[in-house]
Amino acid sequence: MSTLVLHVTGARPNFPKAAPVMRALSGRGLEQTLVHTGQHYDGRMSEIFFQQLGLPEPDVNLGVGSGSHAKQTAMIMTGLEELFEARRPAMVLVYGDVNSTVAAALVASKMRVPLAHVEAGLRSFDMTMPEEINRLVTDRLSDLLFCTSPDAIAHLGNEGTDPAKIHLVGNPMIDTLLANIDRFDVAGARTEHGLTGRYVVATLHRPSNVDDPADAAALVKSMHAVADQAVVVLPLHPRGRARLEAEGLFTHPQMKVVEPLGYVEFMGLVRGADAVVTDSGGVQEETTMLGVPCLTLRPNTERPVTITHGTNQLVTRERLPIAIEECLRAGRAQTWPTPPLWDGHAGERIAAVVAGALD
Ligand code: UD1
Ligand code: UDP
Repeated sequence: MSTLVLHVTGARPNFPKAAPVMRALSGRGLEQTLVHTGQHYDGRMSEIFFQQLGLPEPDVNLGVGSGSHAKQTAMIMTGLEELFEARRPAMVLVYGDVNSTVAAALVASKMRVPLAHVEAGLRSFDMTMPEEINRLVTDRLSDLLFCTSPDAIAHLGNEGTDPAKIHLVGNPMIDTLLANIDRFDVAGARTEHGLTGRYVVATLHRPSNVDDPADAAALVKSMHAVADQAVVVLPLHPRGRARLEAEGLFTHPQMKVVEPLGYVEFMGLVRGADAVVTDSGGVQEETTMLGVPCLTLRPNTERPVTITHGTNQLVTRERLPIAIEECLRAGRAQTWPTPPLWDGHAGERIAAVVAGALD
């Protein structure tokens, strides 16, 4: 009987989630293999995370690259089917809500390989987001559902998921943050980016913000109004780069657009920021943990705990300039709450359940 635990990763947000789970499973002596689908492939979107987070080299890289949703998902599925056939894993672990996640979930469940989903139960209830479709399908197919917040458990319950499959374990993304926090060098980030006063960090990559020219133009106007008030450092995701550049994003003298940063450098920058503007999922959580005011440029969030227990607020493009003004005036809080079980031990809790299921 195989006892192999096979992890499927592929996109930037997968890597900081998988690292603590792999580490905790290693501590229990379980046999593991790491698969990279190749969904993200630029060194700054992938390799640098392996170097910085102590992840092992992937045993296999499917090298699927970019493509339409159907093409990318299908290529990942085809590659994984062959691989699962050859390796016969005892369990497949998937992370988050990207196309690599749902592709692996479909293959594992059809091959009747037990499937565990890390970061289960999050819901934006916004079916225009590809991630919401990926989350719903992956959760429906999973045998073990590892949740980062109590609201996720409630959603799974409402959908009729067997409670015996659901485990509130905390947040492995936050395990990675806490394990590396001493490396987040604010002074180094200031020097690197020439920052002498107040600054805002921004990340932008959601299709709803960057794909359509009219949306992108409105976003640029709004971001320029932020840059009127403080220097903005924007490590720009490749997705919207060309569109946002064409709309004039880079022209404001206080807008510093840079390449995507390594995890440690990015978090050093965020740690010292006066505020963050983002449409990222992970960044909403990281700012909550670090007590940095976060303005999320979305109409909804699948991570409401970052609003109820954190520093996050949802803003429209129209309100963003005023919201930044308010954040800069208020300054950063000295103390702040954090969500339950975001304590650096999610990976160990996940490993304990996985090991128990394989016994
Ligand atoms: C994906 C996830 C999204 C996640 C984001 C994190 C899906 C459906 N979306 O979005 O949930 O928030 O990753 O970063 O899985 N590209 C490069 N180099 C790369 C990777 C991508 O240039 O290494 C460019 C390509 O032009 C590509 C585009 O970015 O077409 C989009 O990449 P893709 O992986 O399809 O989606 P993301 O927008 O990155
Ligand atoms: N991140 C990084 N460098 C950057 C931007 C982001 O290291 O330039 C990290 C950060 O920890 C974030 C994670 O990558 O939480 C995933 O971010 P992304 O916004 O790509 O994905 P999402 O969480 O929106 O799916």
